[in-house]
Amino acid sequence: MKYSFTSTALAALSLSGSASAFWRMPCRGRTALERVDPIVDPGKISGHAHTVQGSGAFKESVTFDELRASNCTSCQVTQDKSAYWVPSLHFQYTNGTTVLVNQDGGMLAYYLLYGDDPKPFPPGFRMLAGDPFQRNFTGLPVPDPPKPWTGGNVTQEALRLKAVGFNCLHYSVNPPEGTLYRHFMPDKDFLDENCSDGLRLELMFPSCWNGKDLDSEDHKSHMAYPDQVITGDCPSGYDTRVVSLLYEVIWNTQAFKGVDGQFVLSNGDPTGHGYHGDFITGWDEDFLQSAINTCTSESGEIQDCPLFNIQSEADTQLCKAEVPEALANDNCEGPSDGLCGGVQVQYGPAYATMGSSNSSASTTSAPSYTGSTPLVPTLSYQTSLESFASDKYGGGITIEAVSGVTPAPSAPTPVTTEIVGTTTFTSAGAVYEVAIEEVDVYVTEIATATAAAKHKRHYQHHRLNRREHGLLAQ
Ligand SMILES: *[C@@H]1O[C@H](CO)[C@@H](O)[C@H](O)[C@H]1NC(C)=O
Ligand SMILES: *[C@@H]1O[C@H](CO)[C@@H](O)[C@H](O)[C@H]1NC(C)=O
Ligand SMILES: *[C@@H]1O[C@H](CO)[C@@H](O)[C@H](O)[C@H]1NC(C)=O
Ligand SMILES: *[C@@H]1O[C@H](CO)[C@@H](O)[C@H](O)[C@H]1NC(C)=O
Ligand SMILES: *[C@@H]1O[C@H](CO)[C@@H](O)[C@H](O)[C@H]1NC(C)=O
Ligand SMILES: *[C@@H]1O[C@H](CO)[C@@H](O)[C@H](O)[C@H]1NC(C)=O
Repeated sequence: MKYSFTSTALAALSLSGSASAFWRMPCRGRTALERVDPIVDPGKISGHAHTVQGSGAFKESVTFDELRASNCTSCQVTQDKSAYWVPSLHFQYTNGTTVLVNQDGGMLAYYLLYGDDPKPFPPGFRMLAGDPFQRNFTGLPVPDPPKPWTGGNVTQEALRLKAVGFNCLHYSVNPPEGTLYRHFMPDKDFLDENCSDGLRLELMFPSCWNGKDLDSEDHKSHMAYPDQVITGDCPSGYDTRVVSLLYEVIWNTQAFKGVDGQFVLSNGDPTGHGYHGDFITGWDEDFLQSAINTCTSESGEIQDCPLFNIQSEADTQLCKAEVPEALANDNCEGPSDGLCGGVQVQYGPAYATMGSSNSSASTTSAPSYTGSTPLVPTLSYQTSLESFASDKYGGGITIEAVSGVTPAPSAPTPVTTEIVGTTTFTSAGAVYEVAIEEVDVYVTEIATATAAAKHKRHYQHHRLNRREHGLLAQ
């Protein structure tokens, strides 16, 4: 197979200043794909399927010590025995049959070191982000207004809805979409035509902790979002900033180009508003504290952290959780009639119900979408200025939607570029190498900040350098 590539940019987190160190945990293997959720449904079979990364001890009910004691993890840093899981993405043909969409490259868990002194997760800490029953996005402008957000845009509910992202990947388009740019599933025609490299599902976890509870009844209320979702200030009562987690999972939606049907999350959600995810720490707390203190490279590369023991991608593939006996005949990969667990597809906009039905008739025709969210977004966006406007918002995302918004007075002009590192990812059976490029930017005019007349910031973005790598699958 012959590949020819051009050099283009890839969407990336852009971080500036020393307070914005991070590392990107590659979890290339998949520990499990099954209807298990030890946070929401401890000790029993869960309603819908999840793709699980991390500790090999994952099961229906699992303790911190059990996760730690596992002899393996599907993440590349062997000290990380955490459990990470999100719903899987399925394609449903018009006759109701579903198949699993191929997951490219496992998952990336970003550990972002925002806050003055981010704390490690204590033993037993767990949390949930998102709401599997959510099916709408009402009362908010689409796309997001420019940051900094205020007022009705920074309620915890609004922030929670903005913590999910559906990124249309098309590596030859420059610039790429920003992280958390679009908060819903693009429609099938849009994906077919525009997203030649698949769809990246993004999930930001809340990073403001109440400082005492390891969990809470809804698994969420011990945590809150900072007011700009990724960056910003913590609400009162949630003053302990823990290390910030962002998950990214890429699905090969392009494999279904031209095929009639729809994409649907395993929880019966074709809208995307019900995307969610779970985390249970499996880090030794002192070790994680040392990593926070030491692994402050702005490259995000785990190789830059001397503390990490790094295993090969091949070894991450070997770590598998034991499948519960009750699920021996579950077929979440498909082809199967409907979604596994008999989960019914619910289009919203009403809050979804727990109900499941094994009748495929209920899943075959999509009603016309009546939510406030346009199904076909525009791809117009540009590098935002506000992320450079002050130190407070200096970190975070630099590329975001400005469609329908008056363009900023002057776009930052890159003045110098330098390759600072590389990382790899897999797509359609090929392994790509991505160079991370550091770009110095001068911002000469700032819409919201009067004090800052002339700022120099630098940020990083990924420059994709797709090459034939020695590791092509076929
Ligand atoms: C981990 O233990 C299981 C049995 O409990 C074994 O099958 C597997 O090979 C072990 N994996 C590693 C990486 O040692
Ligand atoms: C539904 O359609 C798909 C695609 O044509 C096909 O592969 C599958 O076998 C069909 N399912 C049934 C039950 O006929
Ligand atoms: C969010 O901010 C935009 C722009 O400032 C404003 O028009 C909108 O009403 C705000 N949304 C809410 C829910 O307050
Ligand atoms: C593809 O993206 C372009 C640019 O945003 C848009 O105009 C077009 O409608 C999209 N295609 C489909 C089929 O949605
Ligand atoms: C639907 O089928 C699954 C097995 O595929 C079963 O576990 C579930 O209980 C069924 N649900 C209903 C409502 O019949
Ligand atoms: C939108 O979702 C909320 C739950 O978050 C629900 O209360 C509301 O009724 C939904 N709106 C519509 C129009 O169904």
